[in-house]
Amino acid sequence: MNSRKLLAIIAIIGTLAALHACKHESDDSPTDLELLNRSRGPEAAVWYKFSNALLPRSSGSGHFESLLRTRFNSVAAAQLDTLGKVEEGTVFPEGSLIVKELWPNASGLGTYAVMLKRSGDAAADENGWVWGYIRDNGEVRQTAVNRGAACKGCHAGPGNINGTLMNAAYP
Ligand code: HEC
Repeated sequence: MNSRKLLAIIAIIGTLAALHACKHESDDSPTDLELLNRSRGPEAAVWYKFSNALLPRSSGSGHFESLLRTRFNSVAAAQLDTLGKVEEGTVFPEGSLIVKELWPNASGLGTYAVMLKRSGDAAADENGWVWGYIRDNGEVRQTAVNRGAACKGCHAGPGNINGTLMNAAYP
């Protein structure tokens, strides 16, 4: 084999390796990446019940990790009462972002479960929620493109407030 062929083969292998490495960041939708970035950033900064304590998962939780905590951006947090719980009867306004951090154990966060109210989005469900489920390492567990198909069964259930369950699980 001449050296030009060898270089071409090395280049192809390098490209494949690079594609594989960023696969999880790019193979679903831009919405997944947006939700990941917004979950990682400072936007959703108000904690449920104003506490950043890690909570043991509730018995109804659809999330396997043993610990969780939930925070709201300023638009969503305007719907919290003086105790930091969601007001009964709330319909979250457009732009509301709710981020639940899922921790497999106390040493580190594993996944973000995200709800974003954006009715005009192609990924929004009939209530205007866009649903995200992304590991902190960028791996998409459920793409937003599925419009919360894996989420809504529980989130439409007893005690939900406009699709949210923190009040029902942690009264
Ligand atoms: C088996 C039931 C179940 C399924 C399925 C489920 N959830 Fe949840 N979710 C809950 C419960 C219960 C809570 C309250 C906190 C807890 O115990 O986890 C919750 C809380 C949340 C919250 C915090 C906001 C709130 O008050 O509800 C977000 C965000 C969330 N889930 C996103 C998702 C997403 C995204 C999916 C789908 C990928 C999903 N959930 C699937 C049961 C479920």
